[in-house]
Amino acid sequence: MDIGIDLGTANVMISVGNKGIVLNEPSVVAFNKRLDEVIAVGDEAYKMIGRTPDYISVVRPLSDGVISDHKMTEKMIEAFIEKVTGKQLFMPNIVMCIPSSITDVESRAVVDAAKIAGARQVYLIEEPVAAIMGAGVDISKPEGNMVVDIGGGTTDIAVISMNGVVTKKSLKIAGNKLDKAIAKYVSSRYRILIGEKTAENAKMAAANVYSPDGGRKAVVKGRHLVRGLPEQIELTDYDIYEAIIDQLDEIINGVKDVFEKTPPELVGDIYRNGVYLTGGGALLYGLDRLMSSQVGVKCNIADDPISCVAKGTRYAFQKLDKLLDGFEQVSMFK
Ligand SMILES: Nc1ncnc2c1ncn2[C@@H]1O[C@H](COP(=O)(O)OP(=O)(O)OP(=O)(O)O)[C@@H](O)[C@H]1O
Ligand SMILES: [Mg+2]
Repeated sequence: MDIGIDLGTANVMISVGNKGIVLNEPSVVAFNKRLDEVIAVGDEAYKMIGRTPDYISVVRPLSDGVISDHKMTEKMIEAFIEKVTGKQLFMPNIVMCIPSSITDVESRAVVDAAKIAGARQVYLIEEPVAAIMGAGVDISKPEGNMVVDIGGGTTDIAVISMNGVVTKKSLKIAGNKLDKAIAKYVSSRYRILIGEKTAENAKMAAANVYSPDGGRKAVVKGRHLVRGLPEQIELTDYDIYEAIIDQLDEIINGVKDVFEKTPPELVGDIYRNGVYLTGGGALLYGLDRLMSSQVGVKCNIADDPISCVAKGTRYAFQKLDKLLDGFEQVSMFK
């Protein structure tokens, strides 16, 4: 049994052998501090956010692309793996994609957690490598392809050719930062305090970052900063644009930087093939067109961009001996 895991900061996705994606849940864990045990992970834990008594803590242990809570990260990984494998006897091989910004020590902890959960061998794969394979690109050819994976915590930009990473860059600007920027904008512009979940919903419903024209809208509810009472307002695509355009510029500048560092033959290939956008952030309405227009190269949203990394981890099993960069065999069965 081969298992591919996309350990994202926002969502965990697990794919199993020929079954495809079998689990897709938020990266959240609920923990009973009194009994020192996990009481829920994923969807179930997500529902508890902001609704628990003191002795239960509900955390997003990987928020913003760093491991903010080691113990909880490990517990969460173990719980997710057990959820898909059950209590069976044979030990799976695991290819895992972890946020690019986490340190070596942290990745060892992640691997250890997978072993505790019963893994035989654990391989780590870099996010852009998994993402581009999951987008259906054949990366074995001597041909340059660029992927921009915009997740919750990080945006990973990379050029890949002949199974290896040629140039890359990772930015800590992605979905979560956009949500925060929207919440900040609403509080300074309209004096209404909204939560990040509300901001995220507004981003999905009302963004039009290429040609805002007032046509996309979202009603948000929050607390008025002066009056202190609940209030609701309607945000339009103009609002969202103003709130997040600076952050999007930074992402686009990151793409331009990577182009500058890429050898010219490969730039020519990317020009012909277009840039692949993956991760949930690729769905930001109008981002593909905004990026295309500013970079001068066609940017295509990959098919089902949110599952590209999870799909890529599964494809990686067929390439275990061929992938050069972005791939590491971390533990052997002894
Ligand atoms: N339609 C949409 N429009 C804008 N953003 C979206 C949309 N759908 C999802 N997102 C954003 O995508 C992000 C999650 O993407 P994804 O699942 O790829 O992240 P992740 O893999 O968990 O994070 P990371 O790769 O940084 O570890 C969230 O910030 C979410 O708000
Ligand atoms: Mg991701």
